Amino acid sequence: INYQKATFLTSAPDIKALPADTGIEVAFAGRSNAGKSSALNTLTRQNGLARTSKTPGRTQLINTFALAENQRLIDLPGYGFAKVPLAVKEKWQKALSEYLMKRQSLKGIVVLMDIRHPLKDLDQDLIHWAVQSNLQVLLLLTKADKLSPGPRKKVLLEVTEASMAFMGDVTVQVFSSLTKLGLPELEQKLDQWFSA
Ligand code: GTP
Ligand code: MG
Repeated sequence: INYQKATFLTSAPDIKALPADTGIEVAFAGRSNAGKSSALNTLTRQNGLARTSKTPGRTQLINTFALAENQRLIDLPGYGFAKVPLAVKEKWQKALSEYLMKRQSLKGIVVLMDIRHPLKDLDQDLIHWAVQSNLQVLLLLTKADKLSPGPRKKVLLEVTEASMAFMGDVTVQVFSSLTKLGLPELEQKLDQWFSA
């Protein structure tokens, strides 16, 4: 797939406002500031496609992008940001689990986690829901440029080992939007998901 051809489709305020549930969809999810929007921009080679920010919680809307007629990428709002009111957090958690369970076109989910803070409680909840919904899961350990190769490999091994416990189709990759580390592997995985 030529990811450079991605175009902005819609900003949806909630799950109900998403594009028609047809074709194949892949969502990028993770804690606020994990690097979701940056990874989408790296993947599509378009710097301004998804909004990135130093301020966590920047992406509040569900942004959708089209690769082809029936292929979409979804940039989900981040979770776990301390300053968001509890009621808003709980509402989003519910919407997110509903999306994972009910969205027919959703084939796989990329769960982005800062390589320095992997597998927080909310990440684990999300992975459990995804596995329960029979989704393919790619755990992307982002900002890998922040660690030197030794520690990077150590975290990769630890998370890979821990990922077995989810008992699903879960794979783990290191990634950096800064150095493009792991980009070919991300593309290969998405190609698989979109082709099947
Ligand atoms: P929300 O939309 O708020 O949930 O955040 P997000 O997950 O979309 O994160 P975003 O892509 O906006 O990136 C957050 C911050 O991390 C920005 O300051 C980015 O520049 C930085 N960042 C993202 N990816 C990388 C990376 O691979 N390496 C480094 N060093 N910084 C990164
Ligand atoms: Mg974002």
